[in-house]
Amino acid sequence: MARLDRTFVLDDFEALAKRRLPGPIFDFYAGGADDEHTLALNRNAFRQVGWSPRVLAGGASPDASTLLLGRAVAMPVAVAPMGAVGYGCLDGDRAIARAAAQAGIPYILSTTATTTIEAIGEASAGAKWFQLYPLRQRDHMWRLLARALAAGFEALVVTVDVPVGGKRERDLRNDCAMPFRFTARNVAAFAARPRWALGMLRHGVPAMANLAGLDPAGARGSTLAPSVGAEFDPAFDWSGLAEIRRRWPGPLLVKGVLRPDDALRALRAGCDGLVVSNHGGRQLETGVPALAALAAVLRAVGDKAQVFLDGGVRRGADVAKARCLGAAGVLVGRPLLFGACVAGQAGAARVLDILHDELIRTMRLCGAANAAALTSELLWNAGIPAAPSNGQPPPT
Ligand SMILES: Cc1cc2nc3c(=O)[nH]c(=O)nc-3n(C[C@H](O)[C@H](O)[C@H](O)COP(=O)(O)O)c2cc1C
Repeated sequence: MARLDRTFVLDDFEALAKRRLPGPIFDFYAGGADDEHTLALNRNAFRQVGWSPRVLAGGASPDASTLLLGRAVAMPVAVAPMGAVGYGCLDGDRAIARAAAQAGIPYILSTTATTTIEAIGEASAGAKWFQLYPLRQRDHMWRLLARALAAGFEALVVTVDVPVGGKRERDLRNDCAMPFRFTARNVAAFAARPRWALGMLRHGVPAMANLAGLDPAGARGSTLAPSVGAEFDPAFDWSGLAEIRRRWPGPLLVKGVLRPDDALRALRAGCDGLVVSNHGGRQLETGVPALAALAAVLRAVGDKAQVFLDGGVRRGADVAKARCLGAAGVLVGRPLLFGACVAGQAGAARVLDILHDELIRTMRLCGAANAAALTSELLWNAGIPAAPSNGQPPPT
């Protein structure tokens, strides 16, 4: 077991996970599309924004709590939906869901999770949202919605940036496809991590539990396209989104929007919120980083929707900067996955503790007594355009 008390930053978990996981699994998690420029841009975007701190104004103990989709949460953070977690940590979905509930933040379960909707419903009494990929087999999709509703999931997040899997070249070289399978070319890499291999032998390779019953055979495109997304409907469009709106009674978010005109169309289709996201740099290479796309989206939607962003959030200060630039909150992906791979629920909980500690420290240092006080006035020379945090257009 890793010494969690010797972890101090979110990146520590990536380094520790790299030592534990077979190379192809680590690469599947950590990698991005093509040359991985967008992967790097996501993180660099946060470095282009600095602080102009206010002194003697932060209060003794800042309060990071806020409302996300009408629910009180401990900080403006939610767990990003991630498929295939079980390949790195057998009970990882449950571990992360429980850590999120413990930390008082929402957890988003992926369509391609290795744990069923019902198991997560039972495992966590915290806020849960379900992420939906548009599926070719619509009946299956409607059943997923009904199951999510019955299991206590409060909101639906429809991901729209995967009409096809991105070209993830690490996976092609590693012969690593999802759903995962051993092949003559990749088996040596897995044997090199005997503890991992033993776990898989003992428990069996996890399946994408919520896609059980779907047969992606025949849905595959080029042999170069990874199988991620084979069940997804590449022809899904705005009318499909409108139909989901008619069938889902709760809050509805669209994830993967980067343009103001698309944001407006999402609102017109009846969405309650948006996640500005390039899918953690895993889809379209050199796509605009979410932080840079945020202001234009906010100007378009005003206060008619809550706008979240994700991609490259690795510091509490990144959470604070996203708030100052007008986001309601952020989603965090890989660090939680790596936390679970390193030490299960305790690892994911430690990731969230560090993030919360850094956020509170940043709020103290920049003079923000609460989440509402995180506004663009606290930013310095933002290389990234800011919209006021109420989402209204800046005065001209
Ligand atoms: C291993 C992995 C699996 C993912 N699976 C999904 C998914 O099933 N659905 C989805 O909407 N996004 C998925 N994403 C994207 C994340 O939700 C999120 O947009 C991205 O990881 C955020 O960037 P970050 O990892 O830098 O925090 C996945 C990301 C990773 C790393």
